[in-house]
Amino acid sequence: MTLRLGVNIDHVATIRNARGGAYPDPARAAVEALEAGADGITAHLREDRRHISDADIDRLAALLSERGRPLNFEMAVTQEMQDIALRHRPHAVCLVPERREERTTEGGLDVAGGHNWIKPFVARLADAGSRVSLFVGADPQQIDAAHHVGAQVVELHTGAFCDAVRDGHAKLAGDQLDALRAAARQAAELGLEVHAGHGIDYETVDPIAAIPQVMELNIGHFLIGEAIFVGLAPAIQRMRALMDEARS
Ligand code: PXP
Repeated sequence: MTLRLGVNIDHVATIRNARGGAYPDPARAAVEALEAGADGITAHLREDRRHISDADIDRLAALLSERGRPLNFEMAVTQEMQDIALRHRPHAVCLVPERREERTTEGGLDVAGGHNWIKPFVARLADAGSRVSLFVGADPQQIDAAHHVGAQVVELHTGAFCDAVRDGHAKLAGDQLDALRAAARQAAELGLEVHAGHGIDYETVDPIAAIPQVMELNIGHFLIGEAIFVGLAPAIQRMRALMDEARS
């Protein structure tokens, strides 16, 4: 099965917000990304609204639904965000940590520590028709907890692996990759769909995309950065080609 690519457009909004105007427009980036080969669009409405705004989510939800393409709405586990998600009922919701106390050592959501409140939160979103994903570190306890709270998907945090590769720490990178592979196997055995994301670039995409259980990658910062040099569509097309090569 082909590996899906979700393009995260948050940092188009970061650049826009640097000037407080309307340019560059994340909705335009979303359309270009889809035309260049993205399977869906990911956007994180942060509690502090540092990049994506409420109005962006309104427009993205409308344009993706018009085109019949998935919006993956990243959000913190808060009542405010749940209300927004329930209003839009996006195709997918990915719950991410924003506060220190929600964070595990690997940087994912502490599902094991918060299962009492995460479980009903997941159920409410799933009942509304969204596919619920939890962004977790490659930690067996967190994967078990994700299954226990009824998530359909886990998105494995690839940031530590990508940082180790970029910093030239080969042993650490190898260990992190082994942990990601084991987490993907464990999650798939529990019946969870496996996604991965954070910090992925052209160098790190191959070993992650080659993990057979991984069905979707969510990539943002690097692609928006590359867009400065080569344009958004060529950056996405190259990433897509590398993903396909890793899978062939
Ligand atoms: N997946 C999740 C859950 C994220 O929070 C992020 C960052 O917003 C990404 C993927 C994309 O990470 P990056 O921007 O480093 O590619």
